[in-house]
Amino acid sequence: MTATPTKPTYEVKDLALAAQGKQRIEWAGREMPVLRQIRDRFAQEQPFAGVRLVACCHVTTETAHLAIALKAGGADALLIASNPLSTQDDVAASLVSDHGIPVFAIKGEDNDTYHRHVQIALDHRPNIIIDDGGDVVATLVKQRPHQIADLIGTTEETTTGIVRLRAMFNDGVLSFPAMNVNDADTKHFFDNRYGTGQSTLDGIIRATNLLLAGKTIVVVGYGWCGKGTALRARGLGGNVIVTEVNPVRAIEAVMDGFRVMPMAEAAPLGDLFITVTGNKHVIREEHFLVMKDGAIVCNSGHFDIEIDLEALKRQATSIREVRNFTQEYRLANGKSVVVLGEGRLINLAAAEGHPSAVMDMSFANQALACEYLVKNKGKLEPGLHSIPTEVDQEIARLKLQAMGISIDQLTPAQVEYLNSWTSGT
Ligand code: ADE
Repeated sequence: MTATPTKPTYEVKDLALAAQGKQRIEWAGREMPVLRQIRDRFAQEQPFAGVRLVACCHVTTETAHLAIALKAGGADALLIASNPLSTQDDVAASLVSDHGIPVFAIKGEDNDTYHRHVQIALDHRPNIIIDDGGDVVATLVKQRPHQIADLIGTTEETTTGIVRLRAMFNDGVLSFPAMNVNDADTKHFFDNRYGTGQSTLDGIIRATNLLLAGKTIVVVGYGWCGKGTALRARGLGGNVIVTEVNPVRAIEAVMDGFRVMPMAEAAPLGDLFITVTGNKHVIREEHFLVMKDGAIVCNSGHFDIEIDLEALKRQATSIREVRNFTQEYRLANGKSVVVLGEGRLINLAAAEGHPSAVMDMSFANQALACEYLVKNKGKLEPGLHSIPTEVDQEIARLKLQAMGISIDQLTPAQVEYLNSWTSGT
């Protein structure tokens, strides 16, 4: 539904879904105490007064809390989806109706609509961009370089976006500060590992109702997301194989107790394949052709490029929807391959993304990264910036406090020992 045909102020599926969205946003808030404290402080201090802010995120109950916190801090915030299949339409409706936040996101939007929403976000002339995957920032640099002058800086949520920002820096086109939220300890240790681990299996189970115990599950990639996915797949009784290209990570996977082999060897063995590499075509034609009949493939990496679906389509004699988010490709060799969520990130397509408790820390980092950009306006060098260690530590401290867990403190003698190079023998 569109507010006005000429200049829409929002584009969501149906505002009538707002009541349900409001209830679900409230539920998520129970698990987001750190972001709540930040929001309350922002409401007092108004760090974003006069700041135009665009967030390109998965539109979920957790993102709703981030958007509400930024608006409470005075931001003129606009939200678009960072993936065509990840929007929770009820959340989008509630943000518009209950919080007056302009949202342009509809679950299942086509690629043209997705890119049109990116343009609408840039029409907002942002001073700060929160990006998840790098599409808004890349579009700004490619198509609207004159708007870079408006920028205080940007923040990036995910590994894929950081890889793109590094490539931009190496090409000499990253001419503004970009905060690397992904690499904060309180982000990737928890979100990428435990968040992806749980939500990926949640998405697979919701899409298929598959029993994982006893299945051979091939996890493609052993970065933080792969580590979490392999860990949880084993926890559910899967017999897990890991494939990798990085020799250090491959050793890690071996010593974590997984079988490691090339995809050519894993392809005929797997019942279920999960890609989490951030790279393209890690499962391709030669692999599909040797898979077991009925093998299931899905992706939990940011973009839908990891599984070569074009190659699969070329081999297919028919494609049919067998359940929601579940398509069966019948191949000329008589076997079938099942693809979940059209190769888009299954944890957000078929489930609700990472649980609120981890997004609490990820989005605390986002909120504080935005505040850091404003406080240091004009002082930061162009390029990627780490989240300051004090911010990372403070988020961890607040999270522990909210969990009711206290920890030890260094004694003065221990502090002295750690700062000394003469003691030790
Ligand atoms: N990325 C992964 N899970 C997410 C969530 N629940 N909300 C926003 N972004 C996410």
